[in-house]
Amino acid sequence: MKASIPGTVRRMQTPSDDSPRRFRGRMAALLVLVIVSTVAVTGLLWVRSHGFSARATPGAFETAVARAVRSLAVPPAVRDLANPLQPTELRLARARDHFADHCATCHANDGSGKTMVNEGLYPPAHDLRSDDVQRMTDGELFHVIREGVRFTGMPGWGGDEETNWELVLFVRHLPGLTAVEEAMMREVNGERY
Ligand code: HEC
Repeated sequence: MKASIPGTVRRMQTPSDDSPRRFRGRMAALLVLVIVSTVAVTGLLWVRSHGFSARATPGAFETAVARAVRSLAVPPAVRDLANPLQPTELRLARARDHFADHCATCHANDGSGKTMVNEGLYPPAHDLRSDDVQRMTDGELFHVIREGVRFTGMPGWGGDEETNWELVLFVRHLPGLTAVEEAMMREVNGERY
C-alpha cells in the first residue's frame, strides 16, 4: 500500500543513501584544504628563512617551464620568420662589433654568458652557443632581441629590422667564432669580457 503513494518511498530513502557520499565529499575537500595550506605555509616559512637570491641557479624544471612560456609569448607569425639576410663577411663583422659593444656585458664575447653581470642575474642568460638556444627559430631570436624578455635582465633593444637580423646571424655564427674574431671583439670592448 505504501509503495502506491507516489514519491513517498524515494523521499524516505534519499537522506540515508546520500549521506555517506556527502561525508566522503566533505572529507576529500578537507584533505585538499589541509594539503594546500601545508604547502603554502611550508613555502612561506622556507622563503622567510632562506630569502631569494639572484645568484642562485634556476632548476631544470623552472628553466623548461620558463622557456616554454617564453616561446608561447612569441607571436606565431614572428616565430616562423626565416632570416631574410645572408651571412656575408660585412654583415657578420658589423654584428660582431655591435654584439661586443652592447651584448657582451652579459653574454660575453664568445656567447658563453661567463661575465660578472650575468652570473648575478636571475635567471641568467644561457650559453648562446648551446643547443637550447641554437634550436630556437630565427624568428624567436629576432623577437627576443627586439622585444627583450620580461622579468629577466634581457632588455628589448628595439632597433631596426636589419640590425636585429644581423644580430641573429651573429648568434648563429657564435658556435664557430674564431680566436681572431674574439680578439677583435676585445679590441672593441677593451678586453673586459
Ligand atoms: C643586461 C644583460 C643583458 C644584455 C646587455 C643583453 N642580454 Fe640577452 N639575455 C640576457 C638574459 C638574462 C637572457 C635570458 C632571458 C631568459 O631567461 O629568457 C638573455 C637572453 C638572450 C637571448 C635568448 C637566449 C637564451 O638565453 O635563451 C638572446 C638571443 C639574446 N639574449 C641576445 C642578446 C643580444 C643580441 C644582445 C645585445 C644587443 C643582448 N642579448 C644583450 C641578458 C642580457
